[in-house]
Amino acid sequence: MRIAMIGTGYVGLVSGACFADFGHNVTCVDRDAGKIASLLQGAMPIFEPGLDELVERNAKEGRLEFSTDLADAVKRSDVVFIAVGTPSRRGDGHADLSYVHGAAREIAAAIEHYTVIVTKSTVPVGTGDEVEKIVREFRPKADFAVVSNPEFLREGAAIGDFKRPDRIVIGAEDERAREVMSEVYRPLYLNASPLLFTQRRTAEMIKYAANAFLATKITFINEIADLCEKVGGNVQDVARGIGLDNRIGSKFLHAGPGYGGSCFPKDTIALMKTARDAGAPTRIVEAVVSVNDARKRAMADKIGAALGGNMQGKTVAVLGLTFKPNTDDMREAPSLSIIPALKDAGAKVNAHDPQGMEEAAALLPGVEMSKSPYDAAKGADALVIVTEWDAYRALDLSRLKQEMKSPVIVDLRNIYNPEEMAAKGFRYTSIGRPSAG
Ligand SMILES: NC(=O)c1ccc[n+]([C@@H]2O[C@H](COP(=O)([O-])OP(=O)(O)OC[C@H]3O[C@@H](n4cnc5c(N)ncnc54)[C@H](O)[C@@H]3O)[C@@H](O)[C@H]2O)c1
Repeated sequence: MRIAMIGTGYVGLVSGACFADFGHNVTCVDRDAGKIASLLQGAMPIFEPGLDELVERNAKEGRLEFSTDLADAVKRSDVVFIAVGTPSRRGDGHADLSYVHGAAREIAAAIEHYTVIVTKSTVPVGTGDEVEKIVREFRPKADFAVVSNPEFLREGAAIGDFKRPDRIVIGAEDERAREVMSEVYRPLYLNASPLLFTQRRTAEMIKYAANAFLATKITFINEIADLCEKVGGNVQDVARGIGLDNRIGSKFLHAGPGYGGSCFPKDTIALMKTARDAGAPTRIVEAVVSVNDARKRAMADKIGAALGGNMQGKTVAVLGLTFKPNTDDMREAPSLSIIPALKDAGAKVNAHDPQGMEEAAALLPGVEMSKSPYDAAKGADALVIVTEWDAYRALDLSRLKQEMKSPVIVDLRNIYNPEEMAAKGFRYTSIGRPSAG
């Protein structure tokens, strides 16, 4: 199959490289000429484990190309994926579909033979109909189909997720397009990944329902963590105790500082808006959104409490800036709410992150970026773990203690054990677990 991937971001680049690895011929297109130029030189525009090797190998073997010329790529392809961004629209929170519509217009102008146009971007129900209308209006005689194929990969584990998905959802209205999509995903289907064919609108809804459900699960355990702090109990044991129940499942039950990232925040809000407009409000999702927003802000109060209630003139070391480990993605990261609140309360912040500091420096002016966790800890009155990078799981605690002004640790990811930390002389606070001692 010849595939064009429009949008070479986290989703487009990973999907394009994986499709090439299956043996398809893929052209990844982006209108960001800098991104394409660096890919042509073998440099990755994003950090994703394993991606550089996958891209290099498939480019070398001639199955993966990069270009800014959308029309040329579309003309040479049987299947054109739209993987452009769908951020929150300023002002009202609806998904901003301007990039999707723009791509649809450009694709329409270039189609020369039967082409399956596939929306991989996360888009509200009915967007496939709009894309079809745009293409039809531009090119009344064009031979094409529009399909929805939402993506479920997780940043940080994106290649594994793409190659071994729990399911592949394909929303298509006609048989010919379904056959083409079966061919695209044949290698995975042979590998026993289930292909779920649905109507196009259903596929669009599945993506939002999945993200809203996962965001709800995280928010639920976060509220249980707060309750454990008030009435006693250990949220990690509670999560294990409920997660071993197959009806509940153990994933997404880690209490923390609130979800962030490029998907859950914008997708929950977009679903909420769609539901309100349709007269069927999703009240659970609305509660999740407001509880999660409040939680991110409340984390600064938790840090303040660990510092005795006053942050004025105190130095706080923050470990972890990205919204989760193994990515450089800073979109909606909890650190972006927590750090400004610490600064507003009068604290000086030193930070460290294995991959996110370049991006974070632009978003967090006045924060000192440190070369190592120990550098960040120098002279600190408290150290806060915001993102659970592996590099923070086995810190040299004696060295850390020596560097710090006072041994106060606030672990927002529960990666250390309260008893051990107390035994080592730290004043240690975590999420939803009793402090030792
Ligand atoms: N990031 C994730 O983990 C993830 C997971 C599942 C689904 N999604 C969804 O996938 C979509 C893409 O997300 P992302 O994180 O990859 O976004 P991104 O911002 O990393 O990448 C989007 C790319 O599209 C390019 N682009 C925009 N308009 C274009 C056009 N007309 N022609 C060519 N290129 C164009 C941009 O320059 C950018 O490089 C979103 O709808 C998102 O919700 C993301």
